[in-house]
Amino acid sequence: MQDKFHTNTNILGILGHPIKHSYSPFMHNLAAELLNLDYIYLPFDVPQDSLKDALKGIIALGITGFNVTLPFKEGIISYLHSVSEEAAIIGSVNTVVNELGKLTGYNTDTTGIYETLAPYKDDFSGLEVSIIGAGGAARALVYTLIRHFKPSRINIINRTEQKAESLKIYFTDKMKYEYIHTYELFPHEIIPVLNSSKLIINATSVGMLPDTDDSPINTPKIFMKNQIVFDTVYNPADTRFLQLARGEGAITLNGIKMLVHQGARAFELWTGQQMPIEAIYDAVRKHLEP
Ligand code: ATR
Repeated sequence: MQDKFHTNTNILGILGHPIKHSYSPFMHNLAAELLNLDYIYLPFDVPQDSLKDALKGIIALGITGFNVTLPFKEGIISYLHSVSEEAAIIGSVNTVVNELGKLTGYNTDTTGIYETLAPYKDDFSGLEVSIIGAGGAARALVYTLIRHFKPSRINIINRTEQKAESLKIYFTDKMKYEYIHTYELFPHEIIPVLNSSKLIINATSVGMLPDTDDSPINTPKIFMKNQIVFDTVYNPADTRFLQLARGEGAITLNGIKMLVHQGARAFELWTGQQMPIEAIYDAVRKHLEP
């Protein structure tokens, strides 16, 4: 008997709205080309209320797999047949595999975060970490930090403190980690919190193109020498936040490695092949680091 659904079209893509600024089509099409694989990766701009129909179309057409970005990363979960354990805990999916009409969701941002931070593990594990933001990126960060890096304390600093507080309650329960503290993004209150952190992460979209003069914190003397400062924003690669940190002698990490590694893990889930990471990393940096 023939399968009702096929998934051998070798078509990949990304669903989001808006979608035109995504670097994923560039990365995945280049990876397929370099590996001589017959895949194509397309951007699909899906109107906010059309996600369910788009997923039906994906199954009917036999699209092999796809990424999901804003505004669907959380809402898609209820339409999937299953989700990985970590995507379920984080409550956010960025990668979906279609196996004969059954859609499984994954969160590969965790791989991107892990690969970015792992080289500095010995410098900050067992120490204090601060995350600015309490959205989807912050959730993936909190999960990855607790799971792989065991910080002594995680400070979640957010414009809306209530959202940080919800995240604290959620992860304290889900991951049995009792060292989360929350703060409102209010410069004078958070300076001592940041000063006692070995690792500081921007998980907001502040500073992203076109608002490149913005930074979630603009006050001088918030960063210190030998701190590690990571910005999940990758466009621009050198954000105002990172410039301020570097000006005070901190080690700075931009969002490009996270972008490439989340993509590499997704590529592997769809194709079973390793993305040529160094080549893709160099190509993306050429675009983003003028
Ligand atoms: P993502 O999934 O990319 O994390 P999100 O879920 O919309 O996106 O979360 C965006 C985060 O950036 C939130 O923490 C948001 O703060 P609020 O919870 O107060 O909305 C934060 N953010 C967005 N714009 C901001 C700004 N101008 N200043 C400070 N924080 C901002």
